[in-house]
Amino acid sequence: MKKILVIHGPNLNLLGQREKSIYGKVTLEEINKKLKAIAKKNGVTLEILQSNHEGEIVDAIQEVKKNGIKVILINPAAYTHTSVAIRDAISAVDIPTVEVHLSNIYAREEFRHTSLIAPVSHGQISGFGVDSYLLGMQAAISLIK
Ligand code: DQA
Repeated sequence: MKKILVIHGPNLNLLGQREKSIYGKVTLEEINKKLKAIAKKNGVTLEILQSNHEGEIVDAIQEVKKNGIKVILINPAAYTHTSVAIRDAISAVDIPTVEVHLSNIYAREEFRHTSLIAPVSHGQISGFGVDSYLLGMQAAISLIK
């Protein structure tokens, strides 16, 4: 079965408690449930990782080919703006990557306006709350098919 790797970066484990006016009340567990439902409907399986550690995310990206992953869906969270290592890992594995953000990073503080991940991604969806993930999953599925 075709496989998508979903990566949630740092602090996304706190969704539902964290800055609710920006990120909403939905928990990561609820987002994962919705993603799994879309995947199931489309005959795709998901591997899901949430990590607060840059190196762990790099390791997971490096393993994609070995693990039969066809597309990566990633919310790199704060690492979006800082991580050359995650960017280089995506570039190295050369697998289509969809970048998502709950908030519109371009409408927030200036330091969030730069994504180091966007130039190595197939595309980016930003600003639609949970729908960013759902649209991102739809895009990832289209890339597989
Ligand atoms: C985020 C946006 C980032 O700037 C921030 O550091 C996050 C979440 C988003 O989903 O809106 O942790 O990626």
